[in-house]
Amino acid sequence: MDKQTVTAPNLLASALQTLSNRQKALDPKWFYDHRGSELFEDITKLPEYYPTRTETAILSTHARRIAANITDGAVLIELGSGASVKTRLLLDAAPQLATYAPVDISAQFLQGVAAQLQTDYLSLEVTPIVADFMSPISLPAHLLDRDLIVFFPGSTIGNLTSDAAIGLLRSVRDLGRVRAMVVGADLAKDATVLVDAYDDATGTTAAFNKNLLYRLNREAGANFDVEKFHHEARWNEDLSRIEMHLVSRTTQIVDLGGCSFHFKEGESIHTENSHKYTRNSLSELAEAGGWYVTDWLTDPQDLFSVSVLVPH
Ligand code: AVJ
Repeated sequence: MDKQTVTAPNLLASALQTLSNRQKALDPKWFYDHRGSELFEDITKLPEYYPTRTETAILSTHARRIAANITDGAVLIELGSGASVKTRLLLDAAPQLATYAPVDISAQFLQGVAAQLQTDYLSLEVTPIVADFMSPISLPAHLLDRDLIVFFPGSTIGNLTSDAAIGLLRSVRDLGRVRAMVVGADLAKDATVLVDAYDDATGTTAAFNKNLLYRLNREAGANFDVEKFHHEARWNEDLSRIEMHLVSRTTQIVDLGGCSFHFKEGESIHTENSHKYTRNSLSELAEAGGWYVTDWLTDPQDLFSVSVLVPH
């Protein structure tokens, strides 16, 4: 089988399972259909959403220092590449890279982004891989014997529980000859700043959250009355994370895949966790996953971090 084809991920099966939990939930990976990927790009430009511009500033300030970890002819693999905007900073600073392999779950979005990158970087081999990076990734054969650098920006790691993050860190080590992993992680800070970043004034994050329900209607035959749910961002201090929920405005029943799901008024669907780290908590996580932090880069306000990890 062609390694670049996806095993169609099963939205319906996943939703049926997580909506049956006592705390109803949906896996945040389903946010990223084409519409959701576009809405996320809009989020990254919001004044309240500081992570993207802060990480971009850190990467542009320190691109050469990060690029010093990259060997000649190496492959840059990016997990959850989205629009690959920040990647360009690394590509520009590391002309020694031979190949860029963006991994993303949104096939259509990825193909467009990869084609544009190939046009802009003619001497780079761009090899898009449509995949869910939480499932085992099989690299195309010609990349297996090469030095690999794994780029995992955006605080995407923050979507994962610590067990899942440790599992991912371990499986990245097993991808091949991985020399380093560059990880972006959002830092713990004042709760108001955090809540505002996930509940912006224009309602873009609310639309991003609700797109999950529209998507279930479109692709899985659900009958969510989307306006009967409202978007909520909560700071969970004990677990150091922002949680996004879709809260039912009324008692209601939703049908999906032959099952009926009952909602009480005020009952929520938990749609995302976004963990916020400290230097210590991130180092501990890295160590548990088989890596240590060799370089810790932040902005002057300590809002966000980019760290360079090397395998133990
Ligand atoms: C792409 C997972 C890093 O958690 O900040 C943005 C997604 N959700 N606003 C994040 C997101 C709501 C984002 N990540």
